[in-house]
Amino acid sequence: MSYRATFRVWRGDASGGRLQPYEVEVNEGEVVLDVVHRLQATQTPDLAVRWNCKAGKCGSCSAEVNGRPRLMCMTRMSTLPPDEPVTLTPMRTFPVVRDLVTDVSFNYAKAREIPSFVPPPGVAPGAYRMAQQDVGRSQEFRKCIECFLCQDVCHVIRDHEENKPVYAGPRFLMRIAELDMHPLDAAAGAGIDRSRSAQDDHGLGYCNITRCCTDVCPERITITENALIPLKERAADRKYDPLVWLGSKIRRR
Ligand code: SF4
Ligand code: F3S
Ligand code: FES
Repeated sequence: MSYRATFRVWRGDASGGRLQPYEVEVNEGEVVLDVVHRLQATQTPDLAVRWNCKAGKCGSCSAEVNGRPRLMCMTRMSTLPPDEPVTLTPMRTFPVVRDLVTDVSFNYAKAREIPSFVPPPGVAPGAYRMAQQDVGRSQEFRKCIECFLCQDVCHVIRDHEENKPVYAGPRFLMRIAELDMHPLDAAAGAGIDRSRSAQDDHGLGYCNITRCCTDVCPERITITENALIPLKERAADRKYDPLVWLGSKIRRR
């Protein structure tokens, strides 16, 4: 079954823009990205959109569909009311390049601030052994496709540009949690306190557990309950553990 839909697509660049209305054909089984491609093919070839896999795996086609952060290639038209306009806007948290394309380099800068896995001393790479429970925990976090929808939705930076320098966002706090929970990570021996750094350097305290990040994640990673809350607990345990406190005082002398 085909029908004509009204799309309102944000057109513009860093200097400003507006919602442009289009009437466009929609066919059974199509996703929002199919309709965007039809717009490019039939009405507006200069419409800028980033995409790659069209299978929900590259994380490129992130945008906001009716104000909700979504992957356009995974949003079926059948889930949207056919008699209401579909509004497409770029991710609001990041600077616009053009039309639906945003500059997500904030995220790559945050990724670079996190020290990578520190291999355990004296254990050859082939000799690493981990309990299946620990493997499963990291595997959930490693499903991340870096679509940055969680970063886009988090209120700490969504409307607060001033928080960006001190806040890594859920995707990268989750990365710190993954490394902090990793049984073979030897960062502590290299003088890196991951949970403390999450608190002091990456703004973990700004997260007030609204769960919006978990709600929008297309990989259904339970970011809040499985990464952020445990990381907060670990940071608090370290801060308020009397032995850890005493040790840090002695080390500072
Ligand atoms: Fe996207 Fe989920 Fe990864 Fe966030 S955690 S970047 S929402 S896949
Ligand atoms: Fe933001 Fe997720 Fe925390 S949306 S406030 S990081 S629970
Ligand atoms: Fe790759 Fe949508 S095009 S996730």
